Amino acid sequence: MHVGINIPMKRTVKKLRRNFQDYGLGVTLGKVCSGALAVACESRTYRIYRIKLDRYVPAELDTGGFELRLLDQEENSLIDQIEGLEEWLFGEIREKLKTGSICLVALEGEQVAGFNLVSFGEIYMPLVNMTRKFRDNEAWSEQITVSKNFRGRGLAATLRLTVFDVLKDRGVNRFYGGTLPLNLANRKLSKKVGFREIADIRYRRFLNKKTWAFKRIGQNDKAI
Ligand SMILES: CC(C)(COP(=O)(O)OP(=O)(O)OC[C@H]1O[C@@H](n2cnc3c(N)ncnc32)[C@H](O)[C@@H]1OP(=O)(O)O)[C@@H](O)C(=O)NCCC(=O)NCCS
Repeated sequence: MHVGINIPMKRTVKKLRRNFQDYGLGVTLGKVCSGALAVACESRTYRIYRIKLDRYVPAELDTGGFELRLLDQEENSLIDQIEGLEEWLFGEIREKLKTGSICLVALEGEQVAGFNLVSFGEIYMPLVNMTRKFRDNEAWSEQITVSKNFRGRGLAATLRLTVFDVLKDRGVNRFYGGTLPLNLANRKLSKKVGFREIADIRYRRFLNKKTWAFKRIGQNDKAI
C-alpha cells in the first residue's frame, strides 16, 4: 500500500537532489516553480546542436581505463544503473533498445560511469512536447550523462567521440542533440567535440493552447 505512494515520492526527492547537484539552486527552484505552474502554463526553450559527421575525422582515443561498449537489452543491472542516473528514462531503456536505439556505456568494472543514448527515426522530445522524424542518415542524442564521481575527467568527450565513430560506421552523417540553454557544461562539451548550435525551439502552452517557435541561431548567439 505504502510502496505505491513512496516510490514516486522518492523519485521526486532524488530528482530534486540531482538537479541541485547538476545545475545549482537557481535552476532547481526554477524547475520546481515551473513544475508547480505547469498545470496552467509552460514555457521552455531547447537549444539544438548538430555535427556533420561526414566532415569529422576520427582520432586515436584514450578511454582513460574505462570499458566503452554498446549496451545489450538483456543487461538488467546496467540498465537499472542508467535509469537510476536519469529519472526521465525510468522504465524506458529496454523498450528504446528494442526499437532500435543504441546506448554507449562507459564502465568501470560493473559500474556505469557514463552513457550516451542515441535514437533514430521518429522521436518524441519531452522537453518541448514535440515529435520529429529524422531521416535515415540522421540520429538524435536523447541523453548523455556522466555519473557525478566520474565527471571532469574527459569521459563525456570520449563517449561523444566514440559515438561519432559508431554512427559513421552506420552511415549516419548528421547527428543532433538538444539542451537547455542554462546547461553550460553540456553546451561547452558539445562545442569542444565539434557540435554547432543551430536553432532554438521555444515551446509555450497556456491551458490547452500550445505553440512552438523555431529560430535559427546566428553567429552572435553562439558564443558561450
Ligand atoms: C555534461 C556532462 C555529461 C559532462 O560530463 P564530463 O565527463 O564531466 O565532461 P568532460 O570531462 O568530458 O568535459 C568535456 C568539456 O565539457 C565542458 N564541461 C564539462 N563539465 C563542465 C562544467 N561543469 N562547467 C563548464 N564546462 C564543463 C568543458 O569544456 C570540458 O572540457 P575541458 O575540461 O577541456 O574544459 C555531465 O556534467 C553530466 O552528466 N551532466 C548532467 C546530465 C546532462 O546535463 N546531460 C546533457 C543533456 S542530455
